[in-house]
Amino acid sequence: MGKTAINGLPKTYYYYPLLVAVVGINTGKKKNLIPVVWHTALSFIPPLYAVSISPKRFSFKLILEAQAFSINFLSYEYMDLVDKLGSVSGRDVDKFSEFNLKYFIGECCEAPVLEDAYLTLECKLVDHLKTGDHTLFIGEVMKTYIEEDAFLKDSTLNTDRLDALLYLGNHIYITTDKTRRKSKKS
Ligand SMILES: Cc1cc2nc3c(=O)[nH]c(=O)nc-3n(C[C@H](O)[C@H](O)[C@H](O)COP(=O)(O)O)c2cc1C
Repeated sequence: MGKTAINGLPKTYYYYPLLVAVVGINTGKKKNLIPVVWHTALSFIPPLYAVSISPKRFSFKLILEAQAFSINFLSYEYMDLVDKLGSVSGRDVDKFSEFNLKYFIGECCEAPVLEDAYLTLECKLVDHLKTGDHTLFIGEVMKTYIEEDAFLKDSTLNTDRLDALLYLGNHIYITTDKTRRKSKKS
């Protein structure tokens, strides 16, 4: 197998698939949703979770205004919805009414919690950091909302019930093959 060395990173999607999450924001005056794949846990204690958002997105200034956000994880069956949420802007449409989304307002930070999400992390914004052409918004997870049966006793995803939603880029999605699930614990 031959390798080609290229200066820098010519294409973003080379390191995908990445797990999709939908960030929810509520400023009090405006609510919005933005699908993201650039998100990650940062710390156990305190529980920190971060999301990287471009200043081009309407959600960018909303997060700063709200000082909070939610991270909603939806399963593979919500692929169409997620793609639509990422194809329009909250500047032009109210995504909640446009896509008929059921949600409730979170207990800690008033962030929207999607009813269909199998997991939602409600975060208080604790910091933000400009990282090139995106900004990393760092949240402390104040509340976790979990769908019944979404996780097994060992807290891993119940893959008999749920298929994770992964993004390959260019509006292409994929999921995992549960028949290949293996435990290496002895
Ligand atoms: C699957 C998927 C993942 C995305 N990941 C990100 C991301 O990590 N960061 C980002 O700034 N935009 C990301 N986007 C783009 C935004 O979701 C998209 O531009 C959205 O329409 C912005 O909405 P807004 O203007 O209402 O904030 C992603 C889009 C899709 C479909």
